[in-house]
Amino acid sequence: MISRGAVRSACIVFLLFANRLNADGMKHKLHVSEFGTTQGGDSIGRFVLTNDRGAVAVVISYGATLVSLRMSDRMGRAADVVLGYDNLAGYEYGKSYFGGTIGRYGNRIAGGQFPLGGKMVQVSKNDGPNSLHGGTTGFNKRVWAGVDRSRDDAQVLELSYVSPDGEEGYPGRLQVKVTYTLPAKRNELRIDYWATTDKDTVSNLTNHSYFNLSGVASTEILEHELVLHASRFTPVDSTLIPTGELRAVSGTPFDFRKPIAIGARINHDDEQLKFGKGYDHNWVLEKSDKPGLQLAAEVFEPTSGRVLEVLTTEPGIQFYSGNFLDGAARGKGGELYAYRAGFCLETQHFPDSPNHNNFPSTELKAGATYHSTTIFRFSTREK
Ligand code: BGC
Repeated sequence: MISRGAVRSACIVFLLFANRLNADGMKHKLHVSEFGTTQGGDSIGRFVLTNDRGAVAVVISYGATLVSLRMSDRMGRAADVVLGYDNLAGYEYGKSYFGGTIGRYGNRIAGGQFPLGGKMVQVSKNDGPNSLHGGTTGFNKRVWAGVDRSRDDAQVLELSYVSPDGEEGYPGRLQVKVTYTLPAKRNELRIDYWATTDKDTVSNLTNHSYFNLSGVASTEILEHELVLHASRFTPVDSTLIPTGELRAVSGTPFDFRKPIAIGARINHDDEQLKFGKGYDHNWVLEKSDKPGLQLAAEVFEPTSGRVLEVLTTEPGIQFYSGNFLDGAARGKGGELYAYRAGFCLETQHFPDSPNHNNFPSTELKAGATYHSTTIFRFSTREK
């Protein structure tokens, strides 16, 4: 029987060896170190992806989590544009899903129940009456295995996790793979997700990064200007479960088809904004006939000049304006994260899809392969 301690030591030796490779001049290799040790004794890797344009992405094998993303402002000064914690304990005990990979099912499932193959499936409930982001212990709280897949034109980290049959109530053994790709010449972070199962199940994977493009995470994101390429959204009930309607955004505070500050209408007297305590909704993305990546969202932060474009193969995007950040969470560098100090743009299939036949299906058949791609692309501009 191999002890946990021995496994830990082997991991650390591996990590140190990987770093020797860097020092020996294999330029395209990732920088690897240990981020920390979980309460359960697992060694967690910290993987640094860099490119020729000064961008740096840091990902840890706990939750396949993006913990830092440094991008330049219009003056060429780099700053971290995502929220997170300084140490592993923050990620293990935190409830905000900062930067985590979300699965098996991003967002909510009503009552944690849905029909599949003529039977009702019950998954774990962790959000009042509902299931949220994969249940009590979602993929963001699991230990993944990381492998360097860097190429000459990009640094690539592959993370994998096997979710056993019945985990959190979901049927089927799900083998999941996520890659983070930072191209050498472009300031964009690409995330690909793959999954296969041995029994019919559902799959809806996403990333839960909170962005603050100002680079100053103690500030609110209300001045960021947002565009969402969507003319409809999925209204919700008071527990944030979609009613099934695809409602036109026209004439509502949900119309982001032209650039407008996130804060411009967030306090309007609107039932949907009250239910979400701000924006916490899924937008139905405009799809052209072409399959593949489409521009879903654009965000501009006026003081830094940073621009974020989100491209995805998914049919929906959850725009969440950080309404549950209450100013109490202490993040990286000991900074207190203000109310609405970050926003999320979670590319996804619609919440509660397994209970709505009119939503695109999230069912993954035994033997079939799930694949989804999202790109977070950065640039700067003047006003
Ligand atoms: C959900 C919010 C939830 C948040 C958790 C978002 O994806 O839509 O309702 O509170 O994740 O941090």
